[in-house]
Amino acid sequence: MAFAAFRSLGYLVTIVRAYPPVYSQVRFHSVLKAISTLVSPAAQDYRAEVIRALEVRYPGKTAVVTDSGTSALALALRLSGVRSASNSPRVALPAYGCPDLLSAALFSGHRVVLYDLDPQTLEPELQSLRHALALGCSHVVVTHLYGRIVDLEAVMHEAKRTGAQVIEDAAQHAGGSLDGVRGGGQADWGVLSFGRGKGINAGGGGALLIPQMESAASLEALGVTPAVSGMLGLARVAATEVLSHPLWFGMVKTMPGLGVGATEFHPLSGIHVAPLTACTLLLDALAQESTLLRHRREVASYYRDALQRFPDVLFAPTASDEEQGALRFPIKLHTPPDRELEHLGVVQSYPRTLADYPQIADVLDNPSHAWPGARQLARSVFTLPTHSRISSTVQRAIVNRLIALVSVSS
Ligand SMILES: Cc1ncc(COP(=O)(O)O)c(C=O)c1O
Repeated sequence: MAFAAFRSLGYLVTIVRAYPPVYSQVRFHSVLKAISTLVSPAAQDYRAEVIRALEVRYPGKTAVVTDSGTSALALALRLSGVRSASNSPRVALPAYGCPDLLSAALFSGHRVVLYDLDPQTLEPELQSLRHALALGCSHVVVTHLYGRIVDLEAVMHEAKRTGAQVIEDAAQHAGGSLDGVRGGGQADWGVLSFGRGKGINAGGGGALLIPQMESAASLEALGVTPAVSGMLGLARVAATEVLSHPLWFGMVKTMPGLGVGATEFHPLSGIHVAPLTACTLLLDALAQESTLLRHRREVASYYRDALQRFPDVLFAPTASDEEQGALRFPIKLHTPPDRELEHLGVVQSYPRTLADYPQIADVLDNPSHAWPGARQLARSVFTLPTHSRISSTVQRAIVNRLIALVSVSS
């Protein structure tokens, strides 16, 4: 009787167990330390400490810490605009990616042209980028999707010919690097995010990396306002840490109103300095980065080896395969994953291209372009989780289930 009850409980646990697609642990003691910043006068030093820690990781750069990656990108667009050869603020954005790119462009008053991505590598499609730049752009933004670090040399070459500033949006770099240069350090202007779904999780926050000789003294003139209270962010971090546990995440993700897993457009309402609570969490996140990164790389390498027999599913290896951030492991699927795979954290990350967001309609200057690469990616890219809660048993379950799915559909 007791055995049957135990077995039923075990069965229940198995069926409700579910894994978030992306997760970076926030430790309990760093949440407590962050709470103490609200009363501790010493906390004032944490922001300076974060800036120092970032500047050590990015030699030759000055770091400005903001309340989000989106606001850091908006600031990059404003600050670097002064140096641009073009006097009409127009930014070339990748047609496939995070809608926050669009929020930053709208906030900083830029018109937008979209360029396509290569559906085999997730990197900029150079011909399409050239067409976009030929329309007259003050900026081009390049992203490192899912921790795959793009070599920016060719993009910087194209941009230099037209006088556009390159902004390297490394929100998703997750500690990945190329020839020893961390994501965010290749171009003159780098953007980082420390949000929940990123490799360095401070529950929120971002940073702009600017060339050292550039002056950030006039931040106020650029509309950067003092930090708002970090209490809400802290409460969100603590709740996310608890709710993302595999034992109940399956239930949590079905709850209406939480928006778990949804990719939505959020307008940016302002650019603030990062709150001290986020700076405290960030110091701890930076300290545990290498441990989490090692695990993610091992998981990604397991997936790559296990799926080698199905080359259509895999993306071409990047130049930086050994050094990638492996925030997630992207694959191409023509049959959507079943419920079991969804429970194991396999999801479609961006089901729409940026051209499909209604908010872009009034500012898009190349609406008649087709972006076939981005459309293909929006249809077929799914990501496998690589984070610290993905044990070897879960990795095997994901691979076995995927192989069954791919074998049936091919
Ligand atoms: C490429 C990219 N840029 C910018 C952002 C915005 O960062 P944040 O969520 O910190 O505002 C994101 C967020 O997912 C992103 O993926």
